[in-house]
Amino acid sequence: MTPSHIAFIMDGNGRWAERRHLPRKYGHKMGTKTLERVVDLAAKYGVKTVTFYAFSTENWSRPQAEIDYLFTIFRIFLDEIDKYKDKDVRIRFIGNLTKLPDDIVAACDKMVAETMSNDALTVVIALNYGSWEEIASAVNTLIESGKKDVDKQDIVDALYTREIPFPDLVVRTGGEVRLSNFLLLQSAYSELIFTDILWPDFDEKAFCSVLEEYSSRERKYGGLK
Ligand code: IPE
Ligand code: IPE
Ligand code: MG
Repeated sequence: MTPSHIAFIMDGNGRWAERRHLPRKYGHKMGTKTLERVVDLAAKYGVKTVTFYAFSTENWSRPQAEIDYLFTIFRIFLDEIDKYKDKDVRIRFIGNLTKLPDDIVAACDKMVAETMSNDALTVVIALNYGSWEEIASAVNTLIESGKKDVDKQDIVDALYTREIPFPDLVVRTGGEVRLSNFLLLQSAYSELIFTDILWPDFDEKAFCSVLEEYSSRERKYGGLK
């Protein structure tokens, strides 16, 4: 079975550059090429939704120069909206966008609005995303709604991911074996794959081996199979 939704923790950009004695920003630049490649691969192999963890709520603790460079990259991505329109890709963002520079927020809104009716593939970008912040925001939304009794569906509908199916598969590149505050609730029953491949090196062969590994897994959701 092909996973319908794959979520990627795009890790290892910095190390990719450091191993080549290059500044870390070159790793981030190459990482954006991988993102584009993976969007095409997802469409080619029939994945319907792909999520990318681009900037976490904890990444603000990086040096300002690195944060600024990441924002430069986001601006370039947001400028290339036509690429995604041409590919019939719908773009969504999850995370607390209000903390980002105004021009980025405006460009994100524009991208969402202009790709809303595309349906070949949905690409979700996690920007200033962290599960704890998302849950706090959901709780505040529910408090404001005046609800006295909250069920699972209410929580699902209050998360940034509302209307996006939960990931079938979470893939982390770069060799670390942790989730780093990414989709903690949504991945409750996701399959997890950790690969040592650094994100800039993640190619079609790596993508196919992830699909193959997923198809060998047995999902049980707590039952017996
Ligand atoms: C992931 O690559 C990209 C972001 C967090 C934005 P890193 O920058 O974390 O790369 P490593 O882990 O230092 O190699
Ligand atoms: C996770 O990578 C965040 C993103 C890929 C955006 P990090 O490099 O920030 O995670 P840690 O610090 O190794 O857990
Ligand atoms: Mg990292």
